[in-house]
Amino acid sequence: MTSTTPTTTTTTARRWPRPAEGTWTEHYPELGTGPVSFDDCVSPELYELEREAIFERAWLNVGRVEDVPRTGSYFTKEIAITGASIVVVRGSDGEVRAFHNVCRHRGNKLVWNDFPREETSGACRQFTCKYHGWRYDLGGALTFVQQEGEFFDLDKSTRGLAPVHCEVWNGFVFVNLDPSPRQGLREFLGPMLGGLDGYPFDRLTERYDFVADNNSNWKLFADAFQEYYHVPALHPQQVPIAVRNPEGGFECAHFQCDGPHRVVSTAGPRRWTLDPAYMYPIERATRSGLVGPWEAPDIGPVPAGVNPGGVEPWGISNFQIFPNVELLIYSTGWYLLYRYWPTSPGTHRFEGTLRFAPARTARERIEHEVAAVVFKEFALQDAGMLGGTQAALETGVLDDFVLNDQEILVRHFHKVVADWVEAGR
Ligand code: FES
Ligand SMILES: [Fe+2]
Repeated sequence: MTSTTPTTTTTTARRWPRPAEGTWTEHYPELGTGPVSFDDCVSPELYELEREAIFERAWLNVGRVEDVPRTGSYFTKEIAITGASIVVVRGSDGEVRAFHNVCRHRGNKLVWNDFPREETSGACRQFTCKYHGWRYDLGGALTFVQQEGEFFDLDKSTRGLAPVHCEVWNGFVFVNLDPSPRQGLREFLGPMLGGLDGYPFDRLTERYDFVADNNSNWKLFADAFQEYYHVPALHPQQVPIAVRNPEGGFECAHFQCDGPHRVVSTAGPRRWTLDPAYMYPIERATRSGLVGPWEAPDIGPVPAGVNPGGVEPWGISNFQIFPNVELLIYSTGWYLLYRYWPTSPGTHRFEGTLRFAPARTARERIEHEVAAVVFKEFALQDAGMLGGTQAALETGVLDDFVLNDQEILVRHFHKVVADWVEAGR
């Protein structure tokens, strides 16, 4: 990707070509076009079913290889909906592994700091249980038992930490809580996400992380990030006249579904074509903002799969990796990753991270900081409103909602969830 020079070109309102069948939605006949139920966002029964059918079966992204940079680096992950606590560690052979964070003696949580339900990270040579001092090596083997001779027929080789299936894809660490996953990670991710192979994620290591506990079902927040239909109303500042369609709305340039996963692409980048009325003064001053720094650093070649629709000019591709990850790749050489962790039928924990190529100058650092702060403001606009969606859905008065063609990915997401729940019954 080469560096981009701002111009004053005006972008005219336009419509994007739809598939030959006429609409994005009808391109996937299995989705139908009828009204959709959002009972899956309020029903305690469906929440329980999602636990077993989805979160105990699907591959779940819990971090990146940069989170475990050296032998002995580890982090823990609490997966509230399943009750699991996982420790991910890089072994002395360089492999990244995951284990249930439970001591094999009397079941104490093995790795934690001040508060047992909070996540932690660090580096060590071995794990030592706080309770009676049993020790495990980085490969999970039980290596030391205090007063071992007092036990009865204790075979240490059978008392290692319980392993969790763990695989790495382009530096993203995934775990699978199913003792026998039905698919390997790569097969699960499928060809569309496979098209991201070779993207230089490993060069984008400057990070800004956010965590928020939100008052909505996990899927409602994901929905808000997989359609842009709401943007002119909820975030009018993002959509100046130049990028609206003839009816004053916003159209995405490409939608695609692949197995349980989805992508939506938008056109751009065109921050420098924007009316100053549609941005904060600090965005103009720093030449950065909601869609990141205006000028792209050279991060090397990127695979064609980042823009599977061949959108020109391409702006952003927002990949939704089933079940609970969104990966937004910007044409300006950075990415965002969201994870939605269910904590109850009506709440979830949102994790957001922005990743840039490390700043080489103070100006670049400021661009990154501004992008992070502006991102946070817009995410709060969504999060704040979704409490209202959740509250209204919970009245139970209505459960029959219409979705338009720009909301195809919302339709697809809830159908995939329903299909997995049905398969799990
Ligand atoms: S519970 Fe861990 S050593 Fe006893
Ligand atoms: Fe939004």
